Parts: sequence; C-alpha cells; structure tokens
Amino acid sequence: MGSILVSSLPIIWRAEASEADYEQARVERIFNQRRPSRYPRAVVQATEEHHVVEAVQLAIQQRCRVSVRSGGHSWAAWSVRDDAILIDLGGYHFMSLNENDRVVTVSPSSTGNVLNGYLNAKGLMFAGGHCPDVGVGGFLLQGGMGWNCKNWGWACEQILAIDAVNAQGELVHCNAKQNSDLYWCARGAGPGFPGVVTKFYLQVRPSYSKMLSTAFFYPLSHYRTVMDWVTKISPGYDGDTEIVAVGATPPTELGIHEPCIMPLFVTFKDSEDEARAALAQANKSRPDGALLELVNQPTSLAKEYQNQAAANPKNHRYCAENAYICNDADVVTVLEEAFTTLPHPKAFSLWYSMNPCSRRSLPDMALSMQSDHYFALYTVWENESDDARCKAWVRDIMTKVERHSEGAYLGDSDFQVRRTKFWTDENATRLMELRRQLDPLGIICGYLDVEDGSGVNGLANDHEWT
Ligand SMILES: Cc1cc2nc3c(=O)[nH]c(=O)nc-3n(C[C@H](O)[C@H](O)[C@H](O)COP(=O)(O)OP(=O)(O)OC[C@H]3O[C@@H](n4cnc5c(N)ncnc54)[C@H](O)[C@@H]3O)c2cc1C
Ligand SMILES: *[C@@H]1O[C@H](CO)[C@@H](O)[C@H](O)[C@H]1NC(C)=O
Ligand SMILES: *[C@@H]1O[C@H](CO)[C@@H](O)[C@H](O)[C@H]1NC(C)=O
Ligand SMILES: *[C@@H]1O[C@H](CO)[C@@H](O)[C@H](O)[C@H]1NC(C)=O
Repeated sequence: MGSILVSSLPIIWRAEASEADYEQARVERIFNQRRPSRYPRAVVQATEEHHVVEAVQLAIQQRCRVSVRSGGHSWAAWSVRDDAILIDLGGYHFMSLNENDRVVTVSPSSTGNVLNGYLNAKGLMFAGGHCPDVGVGGFLLQGGMGWNCKNWGWACEQILAIDAVNAQGELVHCNAKQNSDLYWCARGAGPGFPGVVTKFYLQVRPSYSKMLSTAFFYPLSHYRTVMDWVTKISPGYDGDTEIVAVGATPPTELGIHEPCIMPLFVTFKDSEDEARAALAQANKSRPDGALLELVNQPTSLAKEYQNQAAANPKNHRYCAENAYICNDADVVTVLEEAFTTLPHPKAFSLWYSMNPCSRRSLPDMALSMQSDHYFALYTVWENESDDARCKAWVRDIMTKVERHSEGAYLGDSDFQVRRTKFWTDENATRLMELRRQLDPLGIICGYLDVEDGSGVNGLANDHEWT
C-alpha cells in the first residue's frame, strides 16, 4: 500500500481537477438526464481489475465509502454518492468464452448489446436486459428481467460464479462452494451488494435463428377488454414467447396519433413454422377493434434492441416506478389509471407477464420477490419545467397501486422516493445480516435511501403504507 500504489491509479480528485473534468467524470454515461446533486470526493476510472482492488484499499485507508458504476443506467444514479470514491468500470473491458461449457466471462460494464454481438457470432445468446446499453453489473445484481424472463427465469440464475473485491479490499472468487455468502448476495442484493464485482461467469444458451413478433394497437377505450384478454392468455402461453402490454403513444411512423393499449408478443424459435405456431393463439383469440395489427413480423435481437432504444431515448428525463401486483388482485382495474392517463406523449406504462416463472420455487439466493404481474411506469420527458408534474403523476398512481402489490423490483425503484418489500421477509433478514458481517464498516455505499442514511443497516423491507 501507500503512495506508490495510489499514484498508479487513474483517479480524479474533486479537490484537484478542473470543474469540467470532474463534472464529466461524475456523471459520465449516467442515463437519466435528471442529474443528482451529489458529489463524490474522487472518481477512479478503472481500466484494470487491480485498479478496483487499489480503489477499495484507498477508501479503507481514507475511511470513506466506495460507490460503483457499471453501465450507468440505474434511474436514480446510484453510483453518484456524496464524499465517496466512485469506481467507474466503463473503461475496464473483459470478455472471454469457453465454448465447450457455454460459459462467458464478462466485465460488469459490458452492455447486453455488446455481449450478444460477441455471442451471436458463435451461435449463442445471453438473455440480458431489454435495452441495449444497460450494463450487466447493475442488471444482474438486481436479478435481471432479461428476454423471455417469464419462461427462462431470472438472468441472475445464469450466474455460475463471480470475482469480486470484498469490503476488506481482497479479490476473491465466489461460487456455490467458495465465498458462497457473497455469491448468494450477488443474485438479488442489487445496489446493496457488499463488494465490487469485477467479473461475472455466465451460462449462455444457443441463439434462435427465427424470431417473429406480433403487435396489436387498440384505442384506450378498449383498455379493459384488451388487458383482461392478455392477462388471461399469458400463463399457459408458448414457452419461448415473451408477452407484454404497453400503454403508450405508438411511434409516429405508424400513423396512430393517440395513446394506445398494445399487447406485444415476441417469440424465439428455430423455424418459421414453430414461430408462426407460437403466435397463432394470440392472433386467433385477440379482441376485435384494433387500429393496427402487425402479425408475424420477422424480427431479431438487434431489431428488438433498436425498438427498446427508441422507446427509451437518451438525453431525456426519467422517473421509473414499479410494483409486483398480487396474483389475486383485479389487475385490469388496478392498472387502469396508469394505462389511460399518461402525462406525456413519450411516457409509457408496462405490464410484463411473469407466470409461469413466478410460480416456480427459486434457487436459494437473495432474489425472492415475484408475482404473476410485473407493472412499471417509465415516465419520460424533456423539459425540467415538467419535472414536478410528471413526478406527481407517478406518486399519485403508486399511492393507489401499491396497496395491491406484494412489493417491488430493485431495478426500477428509487428508495429515496418509496420504500417497500424487495425480498421475502426471510431472505431480507439474511441479506441484511450478511451485509453487516461482510462489510461491518459500510465501505460499500449500499442502498441510496432518504439522506443516504441506511448504510450498514440496509433497507427495512416493509410496506411503508401499512
Ligand atoms: C433504458 C433502461 C432499460 C432497462 N431495461 C431493463 C430490463 O429490461 N430488465 C431489467 O431487469 N432492468 C432494466 N433496467 C434497469 C437496469 O437493470 C438497472 O437500472 C441497473 O441498475 C442498471 O445497471 P447498470 O450497471 O447500467 O447501472 P449502474 O448505475 O452503473 O449501477 C447501478 C448500481 O448497481 C451496483 N453495481 C453495479 N455494478 C456493480 C459492480 N460491478 N459491483 C458492485 N455493485 C455494482 C452499484 O450500486 C451501482 O451504483 C433498465 C434501465 C434503463 C435505464
Ligand atoms: C390473424 O387473424 C385474422 C382474423 O381472424 C386473419 O384474417 C389473419 O389472416 C390472421 N393472420 C395470420 C397471419 O394468421
Ligand atoms: C430465499 O428465498 C428462496 C425462495 O424464494 C428460498 O428457496 C430460500 O430458502 C430463501 N433463503 C433464505 C435464506 O431465506
Ligand atoms: C421545452 O421547453 C421549450 C422552452 O420552454 C419549448 O420550446 C419546448 O417546446 C418544450 N419541449 C417540450 C417537448 O415540451
């Protein structure tokens, strides 16, 4: 340790850098244009694994916290923390494949798009996040709702092992046998993971040569019929087909200039016949009255990434929220306001079918919260002058919806705004105990709640409204 080691670190100190350089390093790659007013004491722009080790050791020496940025896509910019040493992994790239075992080893800032570009050339895929630029780091630690999650399960179930720098500044390998506590946390602790992951070892699957999609666009006056239909047919639907319902104004090129309710089906198959067969049930049983029907359209992962990127434009202001609606709730009624009163033409609401995944028993890991119905709001706008109105709309909807929910997904949450259950009681208790054991000094920032105060204690995992 000491000055020699420290001086080899690519580090920008707030107290020394120019304001422009510091600001660039502070918010680089942060997806949400609503910038946080939180200021790290330094930013380490890691390009090598040992930089992460040195950065954590430096924080221990300085008695300050570390925060981590992989893809920069957490809505609330969790990587930006007051007086912490921010480890930015954006310049640290690693990717290697063991083709025999179909195991890919990747650095945390690798995006879904880059990873799948690499795998696709070998006839393989990883069912990562829907948006091309989400980093695998934040995504996997939260659980990861990847492509066709409802059938293929959580992305974190494909984590075979990780390498991580623990809160004592040591690089350790973690799997089911070795450092198994950290491995347990890595699958569902999210931003409360008590260490810094440097590599993920992931099981990948063969890619699919025939993907087709079907989309129906209905006026909002058909909301109840359409939502009732799509929620009913989803549980028993074909096992390679992802199903969502989106409330949004369709892309202008489609010529529908009003908000719609849109059930969307994407199927992953190896032959045209199989793909058509998988989508036939939707076409046969769909309600009448669609403004537009795009049935059995050829698609690909690359094309789906493009659609996602268009729906989630860069340089915009975002407020995301979500809830797992109870299996026995009247989902159509509970979500009606969210789907029919969107506050901005770019905002959208989403119902994401999770059954049958939600009815399986999960492996023993931190991730433990799920239901048949994942509901999220992605409120998108451009002007700061709309901040208050858009945020108020989200708050108002969630105050009513949360009473019909089991809890929420870390990935679309902001604990500064709303706290609820993110794990089953048992798993939350274990997780918070492990965090206290593994990082007793709170070196790793953890969950960003009100005033960034939760620290070593973590989250309460309670419904605040009860
Ligand atoms: C446009 C968009 C689309 C999305 N689509 C999906 C989706 O389809 N499915 C889904 O599940 N989620 C989705 N998300 C949510 C996304 O998964 C989360 O926001 C996730 O946190 C982003 O990961 P990141 O690495 O890009 O973010 P970052 O902001 O870089 O990381 C978030 C936090 O995770 C922790 N973390 C990240 N990397 C490490 C590491 N190496 N070691 C320790 N801790 C780490 C840190 O606390 C960090 O602050 C989407 C988000 C956006 C903005
Ligand atoms: C979908 O259903 C409609 C109405 O029943 C039918 O006219 C159309 O041919 C079907 N499309 C396909 C591709 O099967
Ligand atoms: C965590 O939850 C899963 C199921 O969701 C369960 O199988 C496991 O035993 C739980 N583990 C602990 C320690 O509570
Ligand atoms: C944003 O604000 C500017 C200036 O007030 C205005 O001209 C523009 O139309 C606004 N954009 C949107 C999308 O509201």
